[in-house]
Amino acid sequence: MQKNVILCGFMGCGKTTVGKLVAQALERPFLDLDAYICAREGKTVAEIFDAFGEDGFREREHNACAALEKSQGQVIAAGGGTLAFARNVEALKINGVIVFLDVSLETIAARLRGDDTRPLLNGPGREEAMRTLYDARRPLYLGAADIVVTADWTPEETARQVVQAAASNT
Ligand code: S3P
Repeated sequence: MQKNVILCGFMGCGKTTVGKLVAQALERPFLDLDAYICAREGKTVAEIFDAFGEDGFREREHNACAALEKSQGQVIAAGGGTLAFARNVEALKINGVIVFLDVSLETIAARLRGDDTRPLLNGPGREEAMRTLYDARRPLYLGAADIVVTADWTPEETARQVVQAAASNT
């Protein structure tokens, strides 16, 4: 059974962009977990947060991970918070290799400047909230990951590294 390749990491680390390139290179289907949740709900992430709160989003996110337990051979871009929850790590590891795209906070902050699509960063004190969440999340991503790829580079370069690492692990 061919394993899934699951990309995780902080918002703005490039999971979706890099994931599409990796899928292309490996000739595998690509699935973006947030897009999958949004399609099921007929709502954007922000609308789901508004309607059901963060807990409601996490519930739907977990259901999506559980639904993917039996899938195989896909390249999956997780959401930034997905792998911060042990139950999701457990579900996705059943048939997946987890790749952490490790990007510095400075790069993330620059990439997300002006972005208002991430409800967790839309409150007051955005910079501080980002730093706190980044510091809390990074050890969780490291703990969940089978492979760590430094990803401050271009999406193409990062994808090349992921493909190389995944080739010996899937
Ligand atoms: C979240 C990250 C988002 C999205 C939601 C929650 C998080 O995904 O799932 O806004 O908790 O870090 P991206 O990392 O794709 O922005």
